[in-house]
Amino acid sequence: MRGIILAGGSGTRLYPLTMATSKQLLPVYNKPLIYYPLTTLMLAGIREILIITTPEDQAAFQRLLKDGSQWGVSLSYAVQPHPGGTVQAILIGESFIREEPVALILGDNIFYGEGMPGILKESSGLTSGGLILAYYVQHPERYGVVSFDADEQVIEIEEKPETPRSNWAMTGLFFYAGDVVEVAKQVRPSPRGELEITDVNRHYMRQGRLKLRLLGRGNAWFDTGTHESLLEAANYVAAVERRQGLMIACPEEIAHALGFITGDHLDQLTGAYLKNNYGNYLQRLRATGRR
Ligand code: TTP
Repeated sequence: MRGIILAGGSGTRLYPLTMATSKQLLPVYNKPLIYYPLTTLMLAGIREILIITTPEDQAAFQRLLKDGSQWGVSLSYAVQPHPGGTVQAILIGESFIREEPVALILGDNIFYGEGMPGILKESSGLTSGGLILAYYVQHPERYGVVSFDADEQVIEIEEKPETPRSNWAMTGLFFYAGDVVEVAKQVRPSPRGELEITDVNRHYMRQGRLKLRLLGRGNAWFDTGTHESLLEAANYVAAVERRQGLMIACPEEIAHALGFITGDHLDQLTGAYLKNNYGNYLQRLRATGRR
């Protein structure tokens, strides 16, 4: 399976933070936001990844992430000239997808939890239709809301409904079979002028080919589109990392744990961090042999 990170957008809710830089480059505690969706894809076992950015920000992402070989993955880049909606990622990525199954993740989404690696691995085995993940939230009216029957068959997905039919929000991680480009081409702009991913999901739902995975309460899902949610996510990461002394979303660690890079390679990467906490952490990983 291939992966796409949607790291464009205008980030207006985060102004003035995002007036001169991309939302996905902002810090979440000790790492740039994009490390979180990137490592989510890596944990799914995905190593061919396309990063879609605004034209202005592409060079900054390339400076940060390079071609991915340092972490044993292959990163390529494309631009989205104007933020016209999530479905554009699929259209822009057509030649990258090459009719293979693809995972699409919004660049401002953070997933964490004991079961996540297993869920991701399993989801990346998808061969037909689509798969969405949903998370129980207190304020579903802010999200795409998923309602489903007793067999967890999706009945409806509604964008930001005034009276939500459930508390289950659709997260920003989607898995699709290779026919998704053809489905995306049929989507027409919504009343707010965007090509909405909900329309792709509804297409699969009507065909009875949309799978749903409910993320239990032992998992954390954050989107980081507002000042409050960005701070909440950072505080969460800081609390867990400081308590355990283990990092969330460290690409070097994950690449090593998954066997994408060797221990010697990890040692070389560590050199770049001099004597800061990040470098100390990588050194400690090697010293303890922890995977
Ligand atoms: P949103 O938070 O819906 O939009 P935004 O990032 O432009 O922010 P705001 O609403 O504050 O103006 O986007 C969710 C994610 O998807 C985010 O990581 C940016 C990305 N995105 C794109 O890359 N292209 C797009 O056309 C859209 C709509 C979003």
